[in-house]
Amino acid sequence: MSSMNRIPVILDCDPGHDDAIAMMLACASSELEIIGVTSAAGNQTIEKTTLNARKLMTFLNLQVPIAAGAPGPLFRKLIVAPEVHGSTGLDGPELPEPAVGLESCSAADLIARLVRTSETAVTLVPTSALTNIALFLTAYPELKDNIARISLMGGGVNGGNWTPAAEFNILVDPEAADIVFRSGIPLTMAGLDVTHKAIVTREDTEQFRLLGNRAGVLTAELLDFFVTFHEENFPQFGGSPIHDACAVAVLVKPELFTIRPMHIAIDTDGELTTGTTVGDQRHGFAPPPNTDVLMDIRREEFVRFLIERIGSLA
Ligand code: BDR
Ligand code: CA
Repeated sequence: MSSMNRIPVILDCDPGHDDAIAMMLACASSELEIIGVTSAAGNQTIEKTTLNARKLMTFLNLQVPIAAGAPGPLFRKLIVAPEVHGSTGLDGPELPEPAVGLESCSAADLIARLVRTSETAVTLVPTSALTNIALFLTAYPELKDNIARISLMGGGVNGGNWTPAAEFNILVDPEAADIVFRSGIPLTMAGLDVTHKAIVTREDTEQFRLLGNRAGVLTAELLDFFVTFHEENFPQFGGSPIHDACAVAVLVKPELFTIRPMHIAIDTDGELTTGTTVGDQRHGFAPPPNTDVLMDIRREEFVRFLIERIGSLA
C-alpha cells in the first residue's frame, strides 16, 4: 500500500505482553504507518515500560522516534500490575538490549510534533492509561483537529477487571480518561466487553511458535507467560485475552468486530465505581454517542488474522 493511503498512527503503550503483540500487529500491517511511539506508566513504572518499548522496537527494527511518558497519573498515585506482567513488565522472553535512542522531549511534546508535521490527520492508539494523551490534548488544544481518531484499549460497559466496575487502564488515571472522552475526537473503545472474547488459547500459541520466524517465536514466548497467568487465575477464559491488539486490529480489519456507537462518561469519584466507563444504553434518553464501542469479535478469524500478520514479520 502506498504511504499516501496508510493511516499514520502513534502507539502509546505500557508493554506489557498484549501491548507487545499489538505493536507487532501494527508493524505487520501495511494499512498503518507507525510514525512514533510513546511509553506510558501502568503495567510497570515508566522506566521499565520505556525500556521494554525500546527493546521491542529494536527487535522489530522499528525506526521511529520514541519518547518516555509521564511517570504517573495526572493526580493520583501510580498503580502497577506486576502480578499480571511480572517484575519487568514483560517477563518471559529474552529481548535484545535497546539500540534505539530516546527523544529528550516528553511524550506529549513528541505527539504534538508528529501531529503538527503529519500531512494527514493522525490516529492515536493508546493501550495504557490515558495520561500522555490527556497531557497532549491539554497542552496543544489547537492540534485536536489534526487527530483523526483515538483507538484505545480501556474500559468496558459491563464491568471491570481491576475493580468490579473499572478496567485497569482507565482506573490508573480516570481524570485523564475523562479529558479524552470529553474531547470530541472520534473514539473507538476496545474495552473488556470485546477483549475478554479476544482469547488466544494454548493451542493457538503453538501455531505462533510453528510460524518459525522471530516474531512468531517471540509471540509464543509472550503467550507462554500470559496464558499461564490467565490459566492459573482466570481459567474461565480458556486462554488469554489479547486486549491491546484489538485497538490495532479494528483499524485494519473492522469487520472482525461488532461495533456499537454509545455515549461514554468516566466516573472519577465514585466510592465503588471510580474509573468506570459508563455507557449510556438507554433507548431514546442517551446523549449522542461519543464512542464506537467494540462489543463482540469473531475470535477464530481474529486469531487467524494475528497468526497471518505476525507470520509476515521477520
Ligand atoms: C489492560 O491492562 C494492561 O495490563 C494490559 O496491557 C491492557 O492494556 C487490560 O486491562
Ligand atoms: Ca497495555
